[in-house]
Amino acid sequence: MAKVIRIHETGGPEVLRVETEQVGAPGRGEVRLRQEAVGINAVDALVRQGLYPMPLPAIPGFEAAGVIDAVGEGVSDFAPGDRVAYFFAEGGYATEKRTSIAPLVRLPDDISTETAGAFLAKGLTAWMGLRALSSVKSGDKVLVLGASGSVGSILSRWAKALGAEVIGVAGSASKLDKVRAGATHALLATDPDAAGKIRDIAPDGVDVVYDFVGAATFGLAAAAIRDGGTIAAIGQASGQPAGAADLAQRGVVIRGGGTPQYVNGQTVTTATEALWDVIRSGILADLPIVRYPFDEIARAHADLAARRLEGIPVAIV
Ligand SMILES: NC(=O)c1ccc[n+]([C@@H]2O[C@H](COP(=O)([O-])OP(=O)(O)OC[C@H]3O[C@@H](n4cnc5c(N)ncnc54)[C@H](OP(=O)(O)O)[C@@H]3O)[C@@H](O)[C@H]2O)c1
Repeated sequence: MAKVIRIHETGGPEVLRVETEQVGAPGRGEVRLRQEAVGINAVDALVRQGLYPMPLPAIPGFEAAGVIDAVGEGVSDFAPGDRVAYFFAEGGYATEKRTSIAPLVRLPDDISTETAGAFLAKGLTAWMGLRALSSVKSGDKVLVLGASGSVGSILSRWAKALGAEVIGVAGSASKLDKVRAGATHALLATDPDAAGKIRDIAPDGVDVVYDFVGAATFGLAAAAIRDGGTIAAIGQASGQPAGAADLAQRGVVIRGGGTPQYVNGQTVTTATEALWDVIRSGILADLPIVRYPFDEIARAHADLAARRLEGIPVAIV
């Protein structure tokens, strides 16, 4: 029997219930996956809260990595024993899963399922920010709002490796050191002089703002961006920002969207290979992985909501 985590109603972490179910043999064009590492992402909390609507009952989770243990009729590209991952397929909170082969990414030998489960969706979101919503180059000055978070901490390190001068902003004072480790400069979002300090570093304003926070830091983004610059509005950890009209007047481009919009088809290979190379380069090696037993995914949701994640969260089966 497989275990799944299902919600029958929306609400707090307590609505995530561990249940068992029979997965069965894979159908035509499907494989059955023994999942070893399940990604825990901010969007999963939106599903749990009903802010990303799914018909109930639902199994949250969109990301996992594991080993194929059976293939259905018509599947010739994959075989039992293959190690694979996916970053956007519904029903990720499961120990075993039947899935079509469409979302599967084959894992290179040197990338563990734990690394993939922790980094794939978040790393591809960072790639989207750096390569699709903007095109960061050496010497650019960039501001990362939410640099202490999972995606922000990956993106900060990646942007720095590309030669950018990175101003990282933390929401919590206790995470300033973490931001300092991945950025060129570290600031606190609640610092009343944060905008002034950014202008000291970038007198004309920054070239790109990567915003993972939304409402709480929108004023800082608007104050920091140079005329004609780009705001990559990727996340809204503090809620949706209001009012962008005068930014348009200043020629500031605001670009948003979801990772699957930008990482699909041929770009999946380009983006995942870029991510594996970044992991191999060691620039993400200082980011701790926080492991939760599969049955305790609700605890990970509580930690995420309370902003007390100490690193990149992943559930281990
Ligand atoms: N567009 C997409 O496809 C896509 C993909 C992945 C993620 N996202 C979104 O990106 C966002 C970040 O994801 P994540 O996984 O990195 O989440 P996370 O690890 O929970 O990070 C959240 C970040 O937001 C900061 N923050 C939260 N509330 C804040 C406030 N009131 N003031 C200042 N900073 C605040 C946190 O700061 P402290 O921890 O320092 O307090 C932390 O740096 C989420 O909204 C997520 O939904 C979007």
